[in-house]
Amino acid sequence: MINDVAARTVVGDRCKYRDEYMHELRLFGGFNLADLYPSSRLVRRFSAAARDARRCQRNMYRIIHEREAMPTPERDEDLLGVLLWLQREGGLQFALTDEIVSTVIWDIFSAGSESSSTILVWAMSELVKNPQVMHKAQLEVRETFKGQDKINEGDLIKLRYLHLVNKETLRLHASAPLLLPRECRESCQVMGYDVPKGTKLFVNVWAIARDTKLWHDAEEFKPERFESSSIDFRGNDFEFTPFGAGRRICPGITLGLANLELALASFLYHFDWALPDGVKLEELDMAEAFGIALRKKSMLWIKAKPYNNFIPH
Ligand code: HEM
Repeated sequence: MINDVAARTVVGDRCKYRDEYMHELRLFGGFNLADLYPSSRLVRRFSAAARDARRCQRNMYRIIHEREAMPTPERDEDLLGVLLWLQREGGLQFALTDEIVSTVIWDIFSAGSESSSTILVWAMSELVKNPQVMHKAQLEVRETFKGQDKINEGDLIKLRYLHLVNKETLRLHASAPLLLPRECRESCQVMGYDVPKGTKLFVNVWAIARDTKLWHDAEEFKPERFESSSIDFRGNDFEFTPFGAGRRICPGITLGLANLELALASFLYHFDWALPDGVKLEELDMAEAFGIALRKKSMLWIKAKPYNNFIPH
């Protein structure tokens, strides 16, 4: 679902190669030897990932050229439409080539899909693991939208408690636990340690967000902790930076949150969730899988029973 939202955002609904392109994008997201030996032409040449990337880019060019040939309105609202509009209008300080357009699209799709889906799975897992939290969140959603047949993005602002649930999920399960690497631009000293210029630096936001010196009951899932706290994830509170901070802070915070809240609110509104028959709460596996994105190691199985909250007028 999240991949589909990301795909609609970047290439829209009108692209007939969308599924094919998305399939290929997903194929080359794993391990890549060429990343370990970036200066080796030989490795690059025989790397399957590099080949997939080139094929993917060729496909993107096909999408771009077809879109250019279409009778377009003034300006499409998907990312591709906006970039092509900027390309046509000019006025930028550099030429917006097809190569740049294709790379930006790849960047946004890859940065925006797995991060959001990972958080969504964690949020659902925490709700199942904490039935009292799920009950409270479900009550809020069902009372707020009683009688409506579906929830729209604009309505999400009304869901105060669900927002706290999301914050707590982001605290415990930052989807990029080490953020993007930084490089030290000047030699300096931090807390008595010499840090030479050029040092590669990883910020362990996962550990900071579970530090018992900063968080009370740090390992527990307690959305209420944010109820009367001004701590937020927009990059100003360094104990809580699941979207990073500074110049490279995630530019997709608003879209990422909307994806997460809309999906969660809709699932809670339309379904009663339970663990599959015979599975006990304490058996719910919350182990994390090692990787750039901190995914859940095992699949989450939920028994979902439709709930009818819709009263036709
Ligand atoms: C809940 C969902 C998301 C989470 C948790 C998340 C998290 C992050 C994090 C931690 C970073 C690294 C920031 C840093 O190192 O300071 C990042 C970067 C980035 N994110 Fe997100 N993200 C999410 C959704 C999205 C979405 C929906 C998009 C696209 C529309 C997006 C686009 C990007 C891009 C392009 C970067 C790289 C920015 C740069 O290097 O300057 N993200 N994100």
